[in-house]
Amino acid sequence: MELVPWIPTPHAIIEYLVNSINIDRDDTVLDMGCGDGRVILSFARLGANGICIEIDKTLCNIVEISSQLLNVKDKIRVICRDFFTVSLSDLEPAPTIIYLYLYRSILEEIAKKLEKELSIGTIIVTLDFPISSWSPFFVKHIVDENGFDRFLWFYVIGISNPMARRFVFTEDEHINLIQTRLAKRKLYLY
Ligand SMILES: C[S@@+](CC[C@H](N)C(=O)[O-])C[C@H]1O[C@@H](n2cnc3c(N)ncnc32)[C@H](O)[C@@H]1O
Repeated sequence: MELVPWIPTPHAIIEYLVNSINIDRDDTVLDMGCGDGRVILSFARLGANGICIEIDKTLCNIVEISSQLLNVKDKIRVICRDFFTVSLSDLEPAPTIIYLYLYRSILEEIAKKLEKELSIGTIIVTLDFPISSWSPFFVKHIVDENGFDRFLWFYVIGISNPMARRFVFTEDEHINLIQTRLAKRKLYLY
């Protein structure tokens, strides 16, 4: 499979995420292909736990050093591996939000893994490219610092993934859990 190169998330996107979706110390944010860790490090500075999975060893080292410099080393775990080889169901603490800035073709492969390994209510955010087989519950348009149009696509396990859509009725307790999780972010199902 084609390796996605390192292209960092623009600051305007990070600023939106940091200011808008109410991340706090109860959250664990996972960036699959975390690059230099800028997204996870920003969340860790708000008190959240961060998990970085990154295949490039140099980038992994940069995340480790930056986490020390920013005084958030105890908040960040770096897994220097191919994300396809990491079992997401075994991660501790379990991620509440997954961030993905990857190519379309890889997103489709990753989506199968997310559906299998994540629990109901986990929020997934992708930058620029949607997961075409899933239904976003919210799409945010942002003009970045270079004047380019960017899009954030929000999904939640239990509503957005194809398996969830096969059931006409989702159990009340799952709907309640999903609504509580989204309300915390000031995001609502419509
Ligand atoms: C577009 S960059 C995004 C970087 C970071 N998430 C951000 O938003 O600033 C994609 C990153 O995914 C990493 N990557 C690509 N394929 C990977 C794989 N199979 N396992 C782990 N990391 C991977 C690349 O090394 C690169 O750093």
